[in-house]
Amino acid sequence: MTAILEKTKLPFADLGVSTGGEIENLFRQLTELADAEQRKVITDEEREEFRVRWLGRNDSVRVRVKRNWLDTAPKEMRRWVGTYFQYFSEHVESAYSYVKLAGEILEVDKPEDLSLPGVIRPIGTHHLIRQVFQEIEDIFFSIGFSVVEGPEIETPYYNFEALNIPEFHPVRDDMDTFYLELPKGAPGPLLLRTHTSPVQIRTMEKRQPPVRVIVPGKVYRRDNPDATHSFMFHQIEGLAVDSDITFCDFTGTIDYFVKQFFGESVKTRFRPSYFPFTEPSVEFDASCIFCEGTGTAKSGGTCGKCKGVGWIELFGAGMVDPAVYGFVNYDPKKVSGFAFGIGIDRLAMLKYGIDDIQAFFQNDVRFLRQFP
Ligand code: DAH
Repeated sequence: MTAILEKTKLPFADLGVSTGGEIENLFRQLTELADAEQRKVITDEEREEFRVRWLGRNDSVRVRVKRNWLDTAPKEMRRWVGTYFQYFSEHVESAYSYVKLAGEILEVDKPEDLSLPGVIRPIGTHHLIRQVFQEIEDIFFSIGFSVVEGPEIETPYYNFEALNIPEFHPVRDDMDTFYLELPKGAPGPLLLRTHTSPVQIRTMEKRQPPVRVIVPGKVYRRDNPDATHSFMFHQIEGLAVDSDITFCDFTGTIDYFVKQFFGESVKTRFRPSYFPFTEPSVEFDASCIFCEGTGTAKSGGTCGKCKGVGWIELFGAGMVDPAVYGFVNYDPKKVSGFAFGIGIDRLAMLKYGIDDIQAFFQNDVRFLRQFP
């Protein structure tokens, strides 16, 4: 190969070429040699050597070829030699800029200490709240529910009125909470939703029965933070409406859910309660999962979790109040249904034995890692 380099020292007349093809062949050999050398370039010094050797101002291959071949070529040959010289020159320049760029990107010339430990990038997991969402979603998927979502910023209409909570209804005291400051003239008011129930309305506005949905999401209240309260927490709303849904369908569905979530041996019961958007309204309890409903702890004393009662309150629910159907143009004479609102944080705390809701929001990995 290097014979071709020797030739760069000779004047054109000594090259023994006379046709365009022969000239092209000379330049091709040169170009191939440059490419082969370029591929071996790794370090900064090698890159600089390559540049000086092929493109430098003094005695580089390019300078020699110009001086010896091009400048001495007879007139009739000069056009050929000039054209190939131009190609060759551009080719080597771009080969050089390639190694320069690669060097910058890879910084391959930096000495590396291969004995250093690698960079450890910790891989996270789903937050426990997310995991519990998924557990609950899977249970409801298995009985024909699907997931819908709604906005966290709501109008009072969806958060209250359409759920049969008129403006001066006392239950608003708990819930009249975070209103947004809006620019002058903007339509409002708007608030951070206090429950996922508004999505019941949004869903029924869009769909005709049968409706079977669950609504996972965040909700906001003006609760002071303590072991069981947070200004933001999580709910899963449930809604089933069809032409012939009975109270038995309702309690059977909830019982199925609770058994799937806590275990087959857990019993459920419901007590009368009150929500403006359900009638009748109930509160569901589960037999205490800590003392198996006996009220007595394993140590022999009173069970601290259920305070000896044997039951633990789970969540509110009920048959959809016919007044609600009026807001979504369903015919209350033709449809019936049930709804429920599960507090996810509370259920997660019960199932996984967590005694402070704040642990969910402090993002301490030592806590989060316990639920891989
Ligand atoms: N939205 C209620 C709350 O946050 C929970 C609730 C109770 C939802 C009964 C329901 C229901 O759908 O039927 O306190």
